[in-house]
Amino acid sequence: MPETKTSIIDLKEKKSSGEKITMLTAYDYPTAELVDQAGVDTILVGDSLGMVVLGYQNTLAVTLEDMIHHGRAVVRGVEKAMVIIDMPFMTYQITREKAMENAARVIQETGADAVKLEGGVEIADAVQGITEAGIPVLGHLGLTPQSVGQMGGFKVQGKDIQTALKMIDDARKLEKAGAFGVVLECVPWLLAGLITRSISIPTIGIGAGEHCDGQVLVYHDVMGLTTGKRPKFVKEYANARAEMEKGIQGYIQEVKEGKFPAKDHRFEMPKDIFEKITEALGE
Ligand code: KIV
Repeated sequence: MPETKTSIIDLKEKKSSGEKITMLTAYDYPTAELVDQAGVDTILVGDSLGMVVLGYQNTLAVTLEDMIHHGRAVVRGVEKAMVIIDMPFMTYQITREKAMENAARVIQETGADAVKLEGGVEIADAVQGITEAGIPVLGHLGLTPQSVGQMGGFKVQGKDIQTALKMIDDARKLEKAGAFGVVLECVPWLLAGLITRSISIPTIGIGAGEHCDGQVLVYHDVMGLTTGKRPKFVKEYANARAEMEKGIQGYIQEVKEGKFPAKDHRFEMPKDIFEKITEALGE
């Protein structure tokens, strides 16, 4: 009997009780199964997919079809965690109706529980339309990677009075529009704490310090699978890449040396049948 799924009510209760919310990304079935069984509260099929799985430089090339394809695989691997899928670039900014249509496709075609949208007041109307249609929405403020060009790069946001006040206002507008929570990415920890106290819905931080109601990280970063320079906010909890490299090298070496496959890895056939075959072949 599967356990009951984590819901937006559970997340709100965690904010009230002070119990931290955990979120990790996943983009495929085996990872989703692993992360779910380990007991994470929520799984985000982030459009970081574009970088960590599809090899793009940023998230802009990720399509609705990409998110649906990977979202379905994740949903198949999950019993308990709440699954949230990122709406990719330009699938919710054009009109409220288009946003509702695309969010409906994500939910209907994947079976996921919620969608995530980047932005503040400028997307509040889309958030309201989607939530009024019955689809839970997670907001995303601070560094919003779909606007990386406009932000001039992957930088900490809200460091001056004007942008900090705008972020607080955006968080309130998202709550008013019906969002069940807000991701705060690359936000000074004092500001993230202020936003967390200013709204009644949970904040989920990534590079936003310890005062958020929960934390999210990209699975590949946590597991030590990412190559190159990692953001300051990442903490590696395993060195899976080194283990995987060891496994691949071991396989290559044993195949080359004729050590794999061994007796344990092969199949037998009756000796008399084999003899009859070789006889028939005149061997
Ligand atoms: O796409 C993503 O993985 C995200 C998280 C980093 C919050 O948006």
